[in-house]
Amino acid sequence: MNFKEIIEHVYHKVKNVEDTGKLPTYIPQLANVDTENFGVYISTTDQVNFGIGNCYDKFSIQSIAKVLSLSLAYQLLGEKVWERVGVEPSGTPFNSLVQLETDNGIPRNPFINAGAIVISDILVSSLKNPKEDFLTFVRSICNNSDLNYSSRIAASEKEIGFRNVALCNFIKSFGNIKNDPSEVLEFYFDLCSIEMNCKELSETFLFLANNGQNVIDNTTILSSSQTKRINALMLTCGFYDESGDFAFKVGLPGKSGVGGGIIAIHPNHYAIAVWSPKLNQKGNSYKGMRFLEEFTTKSELSIF
Ligand code: DON
Repeated sequence: MNFKEIIEHVYHKVKNVEDTGKLPTYIPQLANVDTENFGVYISTTDQVNFGIGNCYDKFSIQSIAKVLSLSLAYQLLGEKVWERVGVEPSGTPFNSLVQLETDNGIPRNPFINAGAIVISDILVSSLKNPKEDFLTFVRSICNNSDLNYSSRIAASEKEIGFRNVALCNFIKSFGNIKNDPSEVLEFYFDLCSIEMNCKELSETFLFLANNGQNVIDNTTILSSSQTKRINALMLTCGFYDESGDFAFKVGLPGKSGVGGGIIAIHPNHYAIAVWSPKLNQKGNSYKGMRFLEEFTTKSELSIF
């Protein structure tokens, strides 16, 4: 498969499409980026790599980091994780509170904010130095020590994070947050603030296309059964109330973030990262979605 040719073709086509998306304004610092940025990078399990556009410029990966925090919690706790968070699509926006009332504080899945906050609580309980230890984990799966949190983005989100504060306190009232909510939220905001470029993002996620193993040093991050489950969750819940649409049009497990990034995985083949900052109405990158739809159509490769 000549990925380079297909990516170049689709990239130039989608670059010229009118972008009807909008920058997120609810985290003030996220509105501070050039909307013309558009990058793509693919890393394959047989170590073919190719990037185009702004693929070496760092951006805030936001909710994409929720897959990494879940991976670490799953590695540490195994199946016990699912006693605290469900595995069903919510069909609601990423920051919704409504289902928690009837679901007794058990979030539908680990990728909506409520679920990621519960996973953050698990990591705060399980790690000695949560902030340092989590970053060490992410650096090790990416084989790259040049990855960091952005204190500027984390502070910006903390200033306006009233909904997440409400979510965390509401879940605590059901007993599904064990630590001090301010400590859990501090970790959650840091987690969302990690910055990567498309190359780093695709390299970080390549283990999910490689049965849970690091492609460079062959260490096991997750078992193949755990990897299958994380990919299944990305397919069913990775795009919130647009997950069905993404599966329908792209046909790959993936995860988006309000920083405009999307990662998509083709198990046993590749991880592909796309970044374009303007978001559609569901909070997913407009051009990122368009690119991936055309990419799997042109390459005639998807999991279906
Ligand atoms: O908690 C928030 O609202 C953000 N830190 C993350 C949301 C996000 O990335 C949703 N993704 N599309």
